[in-house]
Amino acid sequence: MQVPAAKIQFLPEDRAWIAERIQEVLATGQLTLGKYGAEFEEKFARLCGVRHAIAVNSGTSALEIILRSLGVEGKDVLVPTNTFFATAAAVVHAGGTPVFVDLDPDSFGISAEAVEKALTCRTAGIVAVHIGGIVSAQMPALVDLAARRGIWLVEDAAHAHGSSYRSVSAGAFGIASSFSFYPTKVMTSAEGGMIVTNEDRLAEECKIYRDQGKASFTVNAHVRMGYNWRLSEPHAIIGLRHLERLPAMISERRAIAAIYDDKLRELSGLKTLSIPADGFCNYYKYIAILKEKRDRKELKSILRERYGVSLAGEVYEEPLHIQPVFQKYRSRPLPLSEDLCARHICLPVFSGMEEEQARHVLRALKEVTG
Ligand SMILES: Cc1ncc(COP(=O)(O)O)c(C=O)c1O
Repeated sequence: MQVPAAKIQFLPEDRAWIAERIQEVLATGQLTLGKYGAEFEEKFARLCGVRHAIAVNSGTSALEIILRSLGVEGKDVLVPTNTFFATAAAVVHAGGTPVFVDLDPDSFGISAEAVEKALTCRTAGIVAVHIGGIVSAQMPALVDLAARRGIWLVEDAAHAHGSSYRSVSAGAFGIASSFSFYPTKVMTSAEGGMIVTNEDRLAEECKIYRDQGKASFTVNAHVRMGYNWRLSEPHAIIGLRHLERLPAMISERRAIAAIYDDKLRELSGLKTLSIPADGFCNYYKYIAILKEKRDRKELKSILRERYGVSLAGEVYEEPLHIQPVFQKYRSRPLPLSEDLCARHICLPVFSGMEEEQARHVLRALKEVTG
């Protein structure tokens, strides 16, 4: 049996729905900033329970636009070290300095305690990342901390479409949040991203940045150093369809995760990461920790070659503070991330995955990790 690391699912009826609407926009010529983009924004804002959503062409640009709108030039921004390159790169592109924070072993996110220790008078704000779709139980404490210290909290919710903690959706904790619709994400628009916020002024700023810094769509006065960060209508159409299917796709992922939860307890070599009891996880990733450090590349190749099981990409393979490009920002060792980044694996999970495939993964893991 073959189990791929991930699979992107567009059912035949989804493909027909998308094709019909793409035909329509090709016929009308309304190919960007049109009615489908507006509908995508409205429905995504509703998903997150916020007032505004601004569709853009990637999760990276969503983050950079938020940071430019908040103004980070010459300031420090706290970011987790176990995140995707773009979280820290967006800070740099917006003119700020990333300061790396160690991970919270309970959630793979960041803790209020670690953030508090890293704060200085140069800190403008914090970017929290919902790693693997887990909205950490630390979120209320991070919101309080940011308010108390007069800094902002932004969520990089690239992994967390539809996830929540205590019924607050990912994206609704911070002053503004970014999502990614890259193909491997829980939902995709092929490429794309979304900014969500409850702040009216910030939403206006983000729209200005998205479209070349223009004061408005029809006025050619450039008032900000914007860029072409627009989302095209064909992308918005694809995203809209996956947004409709999001609850079903998350249920399918959660059914697979439940099988893993149940049986992984019996394996002596692996430990699962607990999702907060009052949280809801979309299982973008299913994270398992190897009790003992071992050669992960070798483990992955045994699983693939002997059992046909491909593990998903880690979160993350190497923390950012040891990546060559970020060496100049390095401040101090971050031992929890250095250990856990090397000592975890991500099991295959995707919508459309068969229960029998999950059982096969468990059998293979039992043989290989004990
Ligand atoms: C945590 C995180 N932030 C930001 C991004 C950037 O999103 P995009 O690839 O849509 O630019 C990604 C993903 O790809 C991500 O995983």
